[in-house]
Amino acid sequence: MKLFDVYPLYEVTPIKGNDMVVTDNKGQDYLDFYGGHGVISIGHSHPYYVKSVEKQLEAIGFYSNAVQNPLQVQLAEKLGKMSGYSDFSLFLCNSGAEANENALKLASFHTNKNKVIAFENSFHGRTSAAVSVTDNPKIIAPINSCNPVTILPLNNSELVEKALSKGDVCAVIIEGIQGVGGLDEGTTAFFQDLRTLCNKYNVILIADEIQSGYGRSGKFFAHQYHTIQPDIISVAKGMGNGFPVGGILISPKLKASYGLLGTTFGGNHLACAASIAVLEVIENEKLLDNVNEVSAYFIEKAKQIPQVKKIKGKGLMLGLEFDFEVAELRKQLIYNYHIFTGGASNKNLLRILPPMTISKEHVDVFFDALIKILKSTNFKS
Ligand SMILES: Cc1ncc(COP(=O)(O)O)c(C=O)c1O
Repeated sequence: MKLFDVYPLYEVTPIKGNDMVVTDNKGQDYLDFYGGHGVISIGHSHPYYVKSVEKQLEAIGFYSNAVQNPLQVQLAEKLGKMSGYSDFSLFLCNSGAEANENALKLASFHTNKNKVIAFENSFHGRTSAAVSVTDNPKIIAPINSCNPVTILPLNNSELVEKALSKGDVCAVIIEGIQGVGGLDEGTTAFFQDLRTLCNKYNVILIADEIQSGYGRSGKFFAHQYHTIQPDIISVAKGMGNGFPVGGILISPKLKASYGLLGTTFGGNHLACAASIAVLEVIENEKLLDNVNEVSAYFIEKAKQIPQVKKIKGKGLMLGLEFDFEVAELRKQLIYNYHIFTGGASNKNLLRILPPMTISKEHVDVFFDALIKILKSTNFKS
């Protein structure tokens, strides 16, 4: 059997990871400025994380959600405390799309309505409801298009109110900072308007923090820059540092009942051990401080490069916008300078999502390479 060929692949075969460095099967090291789509939060194969997962696997790796699992309780308590959401509840699942799927389902159950408002350039995943609120018709199959969704521009509160006032909307879903779309974000005024309008029209406000959460923005959640509280927060990616795990943090105003949500694998022992270890490392190594310090250093260096037209994002979720498409630049970074970076729907944007353990020395290596490439190649807009 061959693989279903849906991914265009770089000619690199990583077989080992250590903090910021990924090593391929030929022994070549690469600096990871992309963290495998923003997944690697505490660095590749962090020794504390590896030990925690190993120890858990030796004890018990899995049992279903029909029995007590104190690790889930421990994870919920730790996550609540570190994120500032101790009064919320946690439902665990296995991926980002699944987190949003459950968030949207819960909003619909709670309000008994079915329409969703999402925003231009959004990406919320590839499952049924999650893909229907994603602004990319190419990945929406006919079977997904039955969910009623209105896509609106970011930062236009008037249009949001017009849509909500019709009375059929169950949820507004917004990324803390847009990832795949290209690092655009709502203003503080817009996030605050969304909060007010959702309260006014009995609509659930969902913050998708799957990419922007877990400290990546420099706060635990990116929406915390705007001093609002959503009703549901979806998380995944950095939560497990590569172990597949996701979840939703749910406001006390949404009530649980047996059977309302469920999953076989979600919240299994191994996923909990990985997720607890990630939180412990973020706390013990003060990684949020590092995110803010290295981010400021990175932005300062980026400002000195005339070809960089715009610097977008926050913390270590950054985008450098050029006036040319970055595909060739990314190829040169990976093949000539051995640095992984990311792209976005905005083809002129270079996406930067390194592990939160990154140092200023790594940033220097990146900018040395970038400057050399920009000097040697005439990129055309
Ligand atoms: C903001 C956001 N939401 C949801 C998802 C979907 O997550 P997953 O690929 O784990 O299903 C992604 C993935 O890139 C994302 O960036």
